[in-house]
Amino acid sequence: MKQKYAYIHTIGCQMNVYDSGRIQNGLQSLHYRTAASMETADLIILNTCTIRDKAEQKAYSFLGRTARLKRKNPDLIIGVGGCVAQQEGEKILRQMPYLDFVFGTHAIGRLAGIVARIESRRCRIVDTDLTDIIDELRGETEPEADLSPSRFVTIMRGCDNFCSYCVVPYVRGRESSRHPRHILQEIRRLVAGGVREVTLLGQNVNSYGLKEALPSFAELLSEVNAVPGLLRIRFTTSHPKDLSEDLVAAFGRLEKLCRHIHLPVQSGSDRILKRMNRRYTRQEYLQKVERLRQACPGIAVTSDIIVGFPGETDADFQQTLDIIRQADFDNIFVFSYSDRPSAPSARLSGKITETQKNRRLQTVLALQEEITLQKNQALVGSTVEILVDGFSKKQNGKGGSGNSETVQWTGRTSTHRIVNFIQTAGGVEIRRNYSGRLLDVRIEQALPHSLWGRAAGLESDFQRLKGEKSYAA
Ligand code: SAH
Ligand code: SF4
Ligand code: F3S
Repeated sequence: MKQKYAYIHTIGCQMNVYDSGRIQNGLQSLHYRTAASMETADLIILNTCTIRDKAEQKAYSFLGRTARLKRKNPDLIIGVGGCVAQQEGEKILRQMPYLDFVFGTHAIGRLAGIVARIESRRCRIVDTDLTDIIDELRGETEPEADLSPSRFVTIMRGCDNFCSYCVVPYVRGRESSRHPRHILQEIRRLVAGGVREVTLLGQNVNSYGLKEALPSFAELLSEVNAVPGLLRIRFTTSHPKDLSEDLVAAFGRLEKLCRHIHLPVQSGSDRILKRMNRRYTRQEYLQKVERLRQACPGIAVTSDIIVGFPGETDADFQQTLDIIRQADFDNIFVFSYSDRPSAPSARLSGKITETQKNRRLQTVLALQEEITLQKNQALVGSTVEILVDGFSKKQNGKGGSGNSETVQWTGRTSTHRIVNFIQTAGGVEIRRNYSGRLLDVRIEQALPHSLWGRAAGLESDFQRLKGEKSYAA
């Protein structure tokens, strides 16, 4: 039998990255291997996002490219999954005659069946059924080995919050949580395969387990913390309105829980927060940040900001700039408001022009860059512990290493800062791969989006390595 190759392209958030891993597993059961490029694939799957218009446009332009390949090779199978698939369903299939199947956000467990059916009897299939989510999650298979020691683990799906600008509740359905048994099983398996850090994913992890009367999120964290061999735990995202005192306390209590929280504020204006249906005030938000910093000194707080929400005045925008300064965020993601037809805010008056949105976006970015750089500069001269991720894509360049022969590594601090570094001990560069290990790095240079330094904690290893042949200096 001829070897079959599949190409998966992912757009969107970490949940989509996680889902693409599951898609890949499903295809393994049909004996597909990973194609090196779209051009050499027998099956192309696009995993889509519709959070903003730009993301959706990306999906359509990618599909345009697949159409050209199909003209050359009519046997090529093309499928679209994810949030655009869930939103548009059959409509995409009608508009794009070259597509073979559309599968929604809850159909991944059924994907192998869909593809097998198309292979055996060419037909077109749409599956945007939103049921059976818990069962589907139970069927989780093992992710393929890759070199990074960090992995995402989805612990809950969907969202019940209905922020007025957001499509997630419509394309991901109602909130539902996986059973801790399955989550822990998956994490143990990952750790056995070499993973050292997991990021637990949910749209609002603070409401984990509430509906199903499962253990609370803080309790789940304690159980994950007890998994032997795991070094670090992260999670995202936390909705400020549900940030519990239990979770705050977990930061002080669990040694593997990283000192970082992503707590999207969206806006600094109470009036806009209300129109967004976020259900907290500016004051309440700032109090929560304060509590986190009391319970866990040095914790990094990052956030999401939307600029140009309908009705956002200059005064509202100033409030956003002001909360960025007051909360003293370590970093933020800034988005220009994008109308989504299924989200209620699309029908609000007072739309902001693209030019104005862009101007506000640039202002926020510049402000945050200044704050982040200052925070990074304060770390110069200190030693931080990082989890080594592997080689840095940016081979050298920054940080005065100057020498093109130098191998540069990358990792993150507990506070989620990127650190690029070189490994030296006894004046010798060590090229042994320390991926998945915690290393002390002395920071020598601060950049706007990363830090640069030298691994400092290798002396004892170096002494040991001297007796081995496996290191190349
Ligand atoms: N569940 C997470 C957010 C998931 S979406 C939370 O509530 O924190 C990620 C981010 O995309 C959001 O925090 C928001 O800042 C942004 N976003 C969502 N919908 C948007 C829209 N219509 N226009 C612009 N940005 C949007
Ligand atoms: Fe969207 Fe709000 Fe749910 Fe986050 S909490 S996914 S922004 S509806
Ligand atoms: Fe996008 Fe869906 Fe995630 S809309 S942000 S891929 S939940």
